[in-house]
Amino acid sequence: MAFKIKNNVSWVGKIDWELRKFHGNELSTHRGTSYNSYLIKEEKNVLIDTVWLPYKEEFVENLAKEIDLKKIDYIIANHAEIDHSGSLPELMRHIPETPIYCTASGVKSLKGHYHQDWNFKPVKTGDKLSVGNGKELIFVEMKMLHWPDSMAAYLTNDNILFSNDAFGQHYANECMFNDLVDQNELFSECIKYYANILTPFSKFADKKIKEVLDLKLPIDMIAPSHGIIWRDKPTQIVEKYIKWANDYQENQITIIYDTMWDGTKRMAETIAKGIHEKDKAVNIKLFNAAKTDKNDIITEVFKSKMILVGSPTINRGILTVMAAFLEEIKGLAFKNKKAAAFGCYGWSGESVALITKALKESGFEIINDGLKALWNPDEASLEKAYQYGQSIAV
Ligand code: FEO
Repeated sequence: MAFKIKNNVSWVGKIDWELRKFHGNELSTHRGTSYNSYLIKEEKNVLIDTVWLPYKEEFVENLAKEIDLKKIDYIIANHAEIDHSGSLPELMRHIPETPIYCTASGVKSLKGHYHQDWNFKPVKTGDKLSVGNGKELIFVEMKMLHWPDSMAAYLTNDNILFSNDAFGQHYANECMFNDLVDQNELFSECIKYYANILTPFSKFADKKIKEVLDLKLPIDMIAPSHGIIWRDKPTQIVEKYIKWANDYQENQITIIYDTMWDGTKRMAETIAKGIHEKDKAVNIKLFNAAKTDKNDIITEVFKSKMILVGSPTINRGILTVMAAFLEEIKGLAFKNKKAAAFGCYGWSGESVALITKALKESGFEIINDGLKALWNPDEASLEKAYQYGQSIAV
């Protein structure tokens, strides 16, 4: 159902309570999501983004209840990814000539997805589009936040920044404003979103946010394309992004492992005790990667100053869950984090060296050669693990 967000601007999107996996199966969405589309009805009628493909009929049907589709003057496609553009083909069946404003990369991506020669109007940062009644949309290219085509649009007078993916969260809630929802849930989803999606683009995020702030545009509301809309102290999420984009870390050490016969698990638990004995203030978290949602672990890695990664040796390699985890963190390109490896072995014992190499290649600062334990760790091996924990505690 549509609702007004401010003056003549309405939300016309879709809340997806059921979604549990996003980007195929890459990203968990424990609290669902929303695909936010906005309708501006001034002298000109403007639609900003659409919703994900499976909801295209529902979207167009609901939109037609809000406005005669033929009266939509402009469509703004802030981002070509399918969760925001997926309903365009269905909508354009009804209004094929309507101009679509997007970046030059957006034209390429939309053509790549839908193979249609729609009436594209490429825009650049600073370009303006009058919507009448003295209001304008100002476009800001948001390259690599998080795709090359990403863009934001700012509505003057109402002072709303339509930021698309930036500042969003996968968080379904009927109360669509930040002051109405559980703050812990909200910020957990914000940091998970940043950690899992935006981490590799932190340099771009920092630069772009500063560039937008330098424009000194008054911001009364930030309306992203997922989750709740920021209307209470909207720049609080901008301040969080600046922190997160600058080598963010908390006083946390995270231990991530998989285990076959619990030897590597016992090492993990004993290392944790060693760290805690030496440093009572540091937050220590342990995760068996085979039993924990990978995106939740990534969020914990994002918060960490150090990670310890463990696997026993199997077939001269490591357990496949840990191989997948290492591949995941390689792509995310974390900065300013220390790391080391540990694991049990029976004969050849390659796991610790392999993990160490992968962590180094992923940009972690390796603090030592790691810790190995032969067969099932005995008292002496566990004492070594305890001492190892003490030695790495700051
Ligand atoms: Fe929400 Fe990059 O799409």
